[in-house]
Amino acid sequence: MLVLGIESTCDETAVAIVKDGREIISNVISSQIDLHREFGGVVPELACRRHVDIMIPVLKETLEKANLELKDIDLIAVARGPGLIGAILIGLNTAKALSFALNKPFIGINHIEAHLYAAIMSHEKPILFPAIGSVLSGGHTVIVLINELGSYQLIGQTVDDAVGEAFDKVAKILNLPYPGGPEIEALALKGNPKKYPFKSGVVKANPYNFSFSGLKTAVLYAVRGQNASVTDTPLPLELCQDVAASFQRAAFSGIVSKTLQAAKEYGCQEIIFGGGVTNNQLLRKLFNEASQDVSYVWPAVGLSLDNAAMIAGLGYQKFIAGNKGDSLDLEALTSIPF
Ligand code: KG4
Ligand code: ZN
Repeated sequence: MLVLGIESTCDETAVAIVKDGREIISNVISSQIDLHREFGGVVPELACRRHVDIMIPVLKETLEKANLELKDIDLIAVARGPGLIGAILIGLNTAKALSFALNKPFIGINHIEAHLYAAIMSHEKPILFPAIGSVLSGGHTVIVLINELGSYQLIGQTVDDAVGEAFDKVAKILNLPYPGGPEIEALALKGNPKKYPFKSGVVKANPYNFSFSGLKTAVLYAVRGQNASVTDTPLPLELCQDVAASFQRAAFSGIVSKTLQAAKEYGCQEIIFGGGVTNNQLLRKLFNEASQDVSYVWPAVGLSLDNAAMIAGLGYQKFIAGNKGDSLDLEALTSIPF
């Protein structure tokens, strides 16, 4: 079964074709980094306009690369949220138009669930359920219990910034380009992680919840002083390296401890990861060092950041689980509760 996936929830316009939920035939991602870089983050209005311009060319390129035509597609899967409402609408309406014109079903997909499926679809062995799922991205930071594919229980989530967003904001403070995650990771390699006593946020109401805004402010004060004044003088490189290393350690320490604690409490042997922040090699190292009692399922290269292969793959799973298609009045959602 050939599924066409469409993703446009944030700043990637992506279309993919996946066979039987796992085999990626073609996976085209058009990133908008160039567009948002000068603003240090995603500008929703610009993102929407770019999605409009590029969606059909990306669709055509995906079909060409797969050497397929639209008539060969059996099902359309599209991210219906969470994300930027205007951005989601462009992918969703493209999917609806294709579904209507081709007389083929379409299924709306939860982008966060798809991030978890990205790791599952490239994993050789069957997943041992129940498992813990952890999505660490620019828009989301959640821990969920996965009873089986399609059955989730939210355990913890961020109460303010997502972890990737904190990386992007700290990068901005350090005058590094967007997206900040890879920049901070590279800079931190030569830094002293113990130089600054940054702490990961604690949320009393739910110990599995995350908070990154206090950490971000602590970085701001460390760099610019208590009145956070902006100067034109560039920071010494060594100081930037130490800030990056200390921030990264603090941000990850809470993620590692909370995720492992959740695995223990819920009797899970596997942790499934998704989202762009899981590209970070220090994060992977910290998990490996902290515990080998559980196994870690990381997304394959190319499937951690936003992509449409994960949307198509999960669409197939929904279809074979009994969802034979959504109706044309399916709405875009800025947030989707687990
Ligand atoms: O999954 P993704 O494409 O976006 C959302 O669905 O939100 O992830 C993008 C985020 C950005 O915030 C970026 O800074 C972060 O992932 N990121 C990283 C790394 N690579 C990307 N964060 C830390 N370390 C990295 N190596
Ligand atoms: Zn994402």
